[in-house]
Amino acid sequence: MVQLQSRGVEETSLQPRPEHKFSFGLWTVGNSGRDQFGEATRARLDPNDSVRRLAELGAFGISLHDNDLVPFDATPADRDAIVARFRKTLAETGMVVSMATTNLFGHPVFKDGAFTSNDRAVRRYAIAKTMRAIDLGAELGAPVYDFWGGREGVEAMAAKPPADALDRYREAIDFLCGYVLDRKYPMRFVIEPKPNEPRGDAFLPTVGHALAFIGMLEHPEMVGVNPETAHETMSGLSFYHAVAQAIWQGKLFHIDLNGQKIGRYDQDLRFGSEGLKDAFFLVKLLEESGYDGPRHFDAHAYRNEDAEGVWDFAAGCMRTYLILREKAKAFAADKEIQAALAEASVAELAEPTVGSYSPAAAAALRAHPGDPDALAIRGYHNERLDQLVMELLMGAR
Ligand code: GCO
Ligand code: MN
Ligand code: MN
Repeated sequence: MVQLQSRGVEETSLQPRPEHKFSFGLWTVGNSGRDQFGEATRARLDPNDSVRRLAELGAFGISLHDNDLVPFDATPADRDAIVARFRKTLAETGMVVSMATTNLFGHPVFKDGAFTSNDRAVRRYAIAKTMRAIDLGAELGAPVYDFWGGREGVEAMAAKPPADALDRYREAIDFLCGYVLDRKYPMRFVIEPKPNEPRGDAFLPTVGHALAFIGMLEHPEMVGVNPETAHETMSGLSFYHAVAQAIWQGKLFHIDLNGQKIGRYDQDLRFGSEGLKDAFFLVKLLEESGYDGPRHFDAHAYRNEDAEGVWDFAAGCMRTYLILREKAKAFAADKEIQAALAEASVAELAEPTVGSYSPAAAAALRAHPGDPDALAIRGYHNERLDQLVMELLMGAR
C-alpha cells in the first residue's frame, strides 16, 4: 500500500517567514471582487490593514500602484498625510515596499493607451504621472519599478502602426530611465508582458518580446522583466521556460506568481491552484537558480469569498510555494529520481558540444561526425522520469 500522507515535512518549514520574501500587491488582497459582469462582493480594504494582516501571515513586503495608496484626485497635502501614515505602518510591521508601479489604465484619459496613445498630450501626461509615481516608489524604498502596459495596445489595426507605438514605448522608458539616473534613485525597471486584456492586442505581449525590446533601449542594464504565470499561460506558452530564459539572460528582476488555465481570460488564481506540475518546476527553478528577488503574488481571492476568505487565499499562495519548495528538496534527495535523471542523460546537456570554433575542431568533427543509425537506437527514459515526478507531486513517494 502506498502511503499518501506528506513525508517527513516539518510543519515549521511550511510557515512563511520574511526571509522567504513573499509579497503581495495591495490590489491583490484588496481586490473587491468586481468583474465585467458584476459589482464588488467585498468591502475595500485600508492599505494599512492589509500590510498588518500580511505581516502577521509571514509576508515580507507589498507592492502598489500609485493610486492603490494615493487616490487619483488627492491634494498634495492629502498625499503627504497618506504616505506618512503608510510609512509608519511599514516601520511598525517591518514590511517593505518591494515593487511600485503606475496606474496607467484606470482613468479614461488612458483609453487609447498611455505611452502609446495616439494623442501626444496624453503620452506626455502619462510620463509626467509616472515620474510622480516613481518619486512615491523611491520615497517608500521600492527597489523595483514595474511597467505593465495595460492600455498599450489596439483593437483597430489601422489605427496604430506597431513600429511607431514601439518607438513611443521605447522613448518613454528611455526618458524614465534618465529620470531615475538623474534623481539617483536606487531603482531598476521591469517590463511585465501580457498578450491581451484589456486591449485586443497588447504591445510587448510575451516575455520573449519584452527581452528583445530591452535590447533596443538606451539603458538595457537597468531594465529586466516581470513575467506573470497567467500572462504567458494565456498565450499558451510555458511560463517555466519564459522564466528560465529570463534568468539565463540575467533579466529576472521580479516575478508575478498566480494560477491560470490555458487559453482563458486573466484569471489571477491562487498560486499553484492550476498547473501544479508547472508550478513545481517553477518553484524548483527559482529556488535552485539563486534568484533572490521577491516571490510576489499577483492574484486574488475567488469572487465568492468574504473578507476572511481573502486571507485564506493569501496564506494558501505562500503555503503552496513552501510545500513545492520542500518537494524540490525531496526531488534532489530521491535516489530513484536521480538515477532516472542519469538515464535521461540530463547532466550531459550541461557539457559543451564542440567548444569554440577552430579550423582544426571543424576538421576533426567532419572526419568523425558519428553514426546516426547507431545514435538513434537509444531511448531517453523520459516516461519513467516524468512518472516519478508525478508520483512525488501526488504524494506517492
Ligand atoms: C494584470 C496585471 C496587473 C499588473 C499590475 C502592476 O493583468 O492586471 O498583471 O495586475 O501586474 O497592474 O502593474
Ligand atoms: Mn495579470
Ligand atoms: Mn501582474
